[in-house]
Amino acid sequence: MTKAVSPADKNNPLFLALDVSDIDLAVRTANKLKPHIGGIKLGMEFFYNFGTDGYERIRETGLPIFLDLKLYDIPATVSAAVRTLARLSPALLTIHASGGIEMMRAASLAAKEADTPPRIVAVGMLTSLEDADLEREGIPQTAEIRTRHLADNAIEAGMDAFVCSPKEITPLRERLGGDVLLITPGIRPEGAKANDQKRTMTPEEAYRLGADILVIGRPILHAGNPEAAAREISESLRPHRSGK
Ligand code: C5P
Repeated sequence: MTKAVSPADKNNPLFLALDVSDIDLAVRTANKLKPHIGGIKLGMEFFYNFGTDGYERIRETGLPIFLDLKLYDIPATVSAAVRTLARLSPALLTIHASGGIEMMRAASLAAKEADTPPRIVAVGMLTSLEDADLEREGIPQTAEIRTRHLADNAIEAGMDAFVCSPKEITPLRERLGGDVLLITPGIRPEGAKANDQKRTMTPEEAYRLGADILVIGRPILHAGNPEAAAREISESLRPHRSGK
């Protein structure tokens, strides 16, 4: 399986998290940044606000879409949702690994029925949760062990990709091998504000450690010149692209 997901720039691992609440601004930003990014991540806020019409407007840029709706329900419902969303032809589509192996398998099978099957991405432990939250849920695992456990399940269920924090790239890569796409948010260029991200890494560091896709939002969207910020990040990764 090829790892490339971007027809525009096959190896650009930078995906823009287009977390904006104005559709015209979203379309303008996507078009402007297109030469410097490998794809666009659309999340719940975007999709629930602008629906499939908004989605299509972003898709018109020609960039691959990472549809981050984090599905979680019984296998039959997730399967039906994947079948429906696959008609939009996203390159990547997220589900929660904690929904269980049967749910993930159902999603994977449903995706394969599509004319252009999306890659199903399992989201591990939310980075907003920590050990104490697991204890409260009655889960006798640390966050680190829980993440490993969810990643193992995701692989057993045939997931194509796994979302993890940059700090988890090395242990997960060793554990999961080279075929699985590792996707990391929590990326901050040198000197950028952390915002609410706690354990961050620079784009270069994360990419060199083996991340395949870097999801970056605010450091680009809130920069004085978003186009220049995206270009700078993308150029900083270019020397490390050979061999990937
Ligand atoms: O603005 P920032 O670069 O922090 O954006 C990161 C993006 O990745 C946001 O869209 C956020 O919802 C998403 N994300 C995350 N942490 C996770 C999963 C997704 O930050 N564990």
